[in-house]
Amino acid sequence: MKIDVLTLFPKMFEGPLTESMLKRAQKKKFLDIRVHNIRDFTIDRHRITDDFSYGGGGMVLKPEPIFKSVEFLKKCSGRVHSAKVLLMTPDGKTFNQQMAKKLAKRKHLIFICGHYEGVDERVRKIVDEEISIGDYVLTGGELPAMVVIDAVARMIKGVVGKQDAPKKDSFYKGLLDYPHYTRPREFRDMKVPGVLLSGNHKKIQEWRVTIALKRTKQRRPDLLKGDTNARFSQRD
Ligand code: ADE
Repeated sequence: MKIDVLTLFPKMFEGPLTESMLKRAQKKKFLDIRVHNIRDFTIDRHRITDDFSYGGGGMVLKPEPIFKSVEFLKKCSGRVHSAKVLLMTPDGKTFNQQMAKKLAKRKHLIFICGHYEGVDERVRKIVDEEISIGDYVLTGGELPAMVVIDAVARMIKGVVGKQDAPKKDSFYKGLLDYPHYTRPREFRDMKVPGVLLSGNHKKIQEWRVTIALKRTKQRRPDLLKGDTNARFSQRD
């Protein structure tokens, strides 16, 4: 999958894209991520990307460099794999696992990261989907874009290692995770549940489902009610 990110702060992406799973996914060519500075698409001498909000208010990202960059990136994508343009904004649809799964099927995503008071309203004309990562306002769309990229990346086949495969079992769908333990068997008087040491895989499976169900009932009963927006599976 090809991912282009449009931002005024490309350096913010350096850490998350060069560590752990996203680093590996790029190295193995599952992902080709490029971060572009919106400023590079300005045409004026002072390379201005923002301006005052008409009617009063803070600074707003100008439409011209964003249109220009999206048009350029779409042209690079060609006609074969039409790119999906995503705007990170608190006004967008709240991101969930199902959206991650759907986006993972695309060949090319373009992320627009807003900043300041947001982007000029006319930018919405070239946007296919507006995404929010939750009901709180961040300083910009960069962190949300990183969250979405990470969640989408792990839905691409091959990105997450084989050890995660059993978790894809439909048994676990729509539930919170079950508890995990590793060595030592006993730590500060806390013991690993005996069933996990039994070697009985059927029993272990049953125990995990029971606990996952109990946890989901206690912490996220909305997931069990089939509330579509909230419903997700960490291992979908
Ligand atoms: N930009 C600022 N806050 C945001 C949020 N919660 N989700 C997506 N983009 C944002």
